[in-house]
Amino acid sequence: MSKNIVVGVTGGIAAYKTVEVVSRLKKMSYNVDVIMTKSAQEFVMPLTFQTLSKNKVVCDMFEKTNYYEVEHISLATKADAFLVCPATANIIGKVANGIADDFLSTTIMATKAPVIFALGMNTNMYENPIVQANIKKLKEYGYLFVDADEGFLACGTSGKGRLADTQTIIDSLEYALSKKDLQGKKVLVTAGPTTESIDPVRFITNHSSGKMGYEIAKAARLRGASVTLVSGKTNLSCPTGVNVVNVTSALEMKEEVIKHFDNSDIVIKAAAVADYRPKSVSDDKIKKTDENLSIELEKNPDILKELGQRKSNQILVGFCMETKDLIENAKKKLESKNLDFIVANNLKVEGAGFGTDTNVVSIIERNGNKTDYEKMSKFELANIILDKTLK
Ligand code: CTP
Repeated sequence: MSKNIVVGVTGGIAAYKTVEVVSRLKKMSYNVDVIMTKSAQEFVMPLTFQTLSKNKVVCDMFEKTNYYEVEHISLATKADAFLVCPATANIIGKVANGIADDFLSTTIMATKAPVIFALGMNTNMYENPIVQANIKKLKEYGYLFVDADEGFLACGTSGKGRLADTQTIIDSLEYALSKKDLQGKKVLVTAGPTTESIDPVRFITNHSSGKMGYEIAKAARLRGASVTLVSGKTNLSCPTGVNVVNVTSALEMKEEVIKHFDNSDIVIKAAAVADYRPKSVSDDKIKKTDENLSIELEKNPDILKELGQRKSNQILVGFCMETKDLIENAKKKLESKNLDFIVANNLKVEGAGFGTDTNVVSIIERNGNKTDYEKMSKFELANIILDKTLK
């Protein structure tokens, strides 16, 4: 069943950005109810939110309704999470001081759902010690915040106060909604390709987009883990709240992974590590001379195998990508690398592999159990992998 998000819009210019937030939440299949303060309606029309949320927008505390339900109480209890976006100095001040004098402030006061304030206001207001004291007080009561960014503000000044970007706000909301069954766990994930230099211009790499590893890191973070993501070169943005360590080559990846391994509880190696690297890296650009060019390659360390030998209490998970004999090869890798389980996929299957948002895998456990999964999103698969590590 889809979760219910109540979005409170207050009177700041950043209210126009809340339109995008609501639209994205709907696309993510949340049910969204919007409450607008009187000032918010000076910036954006209720009709905009009504059209996007497909729900009536509540603007007036004493609006006549056709059905009997005390609306601020019903939205307060219906909410799985409450997002105030933008949250101005005024709404922060009201809630911090127990004032409930309009529809939004009464609903916030009446809800037991997690409330997230996405701060957006003028820099001087943001820096005002009264506002800061109110924020501190609300944090102590357990209210959550998406801090404002620094940058150019609509009022013509520059500084802190700009509403955070949409993705950060949505990530924080999802974090508030998720079960925290990995709380206290340290998760180490690797993702993306490694890149092995030939000369200052060229390199050897592979088609890995890094999506699988990034989705695992994101899911683990949402479930409360403290996550380190050692990532090769990708075009993906850093998942909110994840400690990302960027690396280039397999040797660099190995160094970073070993550094974090002993202190990790769960280690998931989704990276596509280059098995070989050029034996020597030319200091200068290699010029075009003969018809053929040979580059001598030498073996890279098998990082996962070394982790398997080093492992003490960690749950160690590997990936296995093949184009034939998937299960036999996966079983061999599970054994030789001393893994707890391995996630195997065949590159030739539609919906599996590099660059896609989906994957089609089999998971093989140490006791020989094999489970085949239908095509699913990489995020769903990430959660299945994490469920298994908990078991
Ligand atoms: N792996 C690793 N270090 C390497 C090669 C692979 O840590 N040098 C890890 C990958 O991150 C993955 C698992 O080992 O979790 C399996 O990788 P894969 O490329 O499928 O297999 P390889 O062991 O490299 O064997 P082959 O290339 O012969 O299939």
